[in-house]
Amino acid sequence: MNLVTVLPGEILPQEYFDVRYEVLRKPLGSPRGSELLTDDDKAIHAYISIDTKIVAVGRIALIAGDGSVKDPVGSNCPAFEPLSTSTASGLRPAVQVRQMGTLPEFQGKGFAAKVLTALEETAKKNWNAHTGWLQARITAIPFYEKCGWTAYGEDYDVNKVGPHRSMWKKL
Ligand SMILES: CC(C)(COP(=O)(O)OP(=O)(O)OC[C@H]1O[C@@H](n2cnc3c(N)ncnc32)[C@H](O)[C@@H]1OP(=O)(O)O)[C@@H](O)C(=O)NCCC(=O)NCCS
Repeated sequence: MNLVTVLPGEILPQEYFDVRYEVLRKPLGSPRGSELLTDDDKAIHAYISIDTKIVAVGRIALIAGDGSVKDPVGSNCPAFEPLSTSTASGLRPAVQVRQMGTLPEFQGKGFAAKVLTALEETAKKNWNAHTGWLQARITAIPFYEKCGWTAYGEDYDVNKVGPHRSMWKKL
């Protein structure tokens, strides 16, 4: 098993995006290209390969505003409310985890947890990140809770993806 961390601006293998598409976009019926996010070159990425095959991926990026996002697939994600308040300065630098995915046949082996830990640690080291935020698919909440994240607020529907809940973690 090989864990690779890719810093902002560094080249990612095409296979990284192939895995992201297979796990996160294809099951939604979204077209090829929908797996690419406009700020991927500003994010930190991590992936795990086994015998040169990439099996798990994820990314983390600095949150400049309140975290609200519009995806290429047309999904509107609401803001992380605590980052909208005037007392949010103690929470920053804040970072957002997105696009965590493990190929189905490799799930349940601890790979995503290793990817997430690498993202958190690299964001702390490179950006002095204080808090992490994410919008979890309801089905993925138990995974993030195992990794020390806390869900808060009500569920909300993300267009074309399904029900989500916001989660956060002090890094
Ligand atoms: C969520 C996902 C990334 C987890 O990947 P994974 O590689 O299987 O996760 P890990 O094996 O590292 O799991 C770490 C821990 O969380 C637990 N866990 C993972 N998924 C779980 C689930 N759906 N329900 C309950 N526990 C879960 C594991 O059992 C493990 O617990 P342990 O430490 O006690 O053994 C993967 O299921 C996936 O790709 N899902 C589809 C895409 C998706 O929903 N991505 C997240 C979008 S927000």
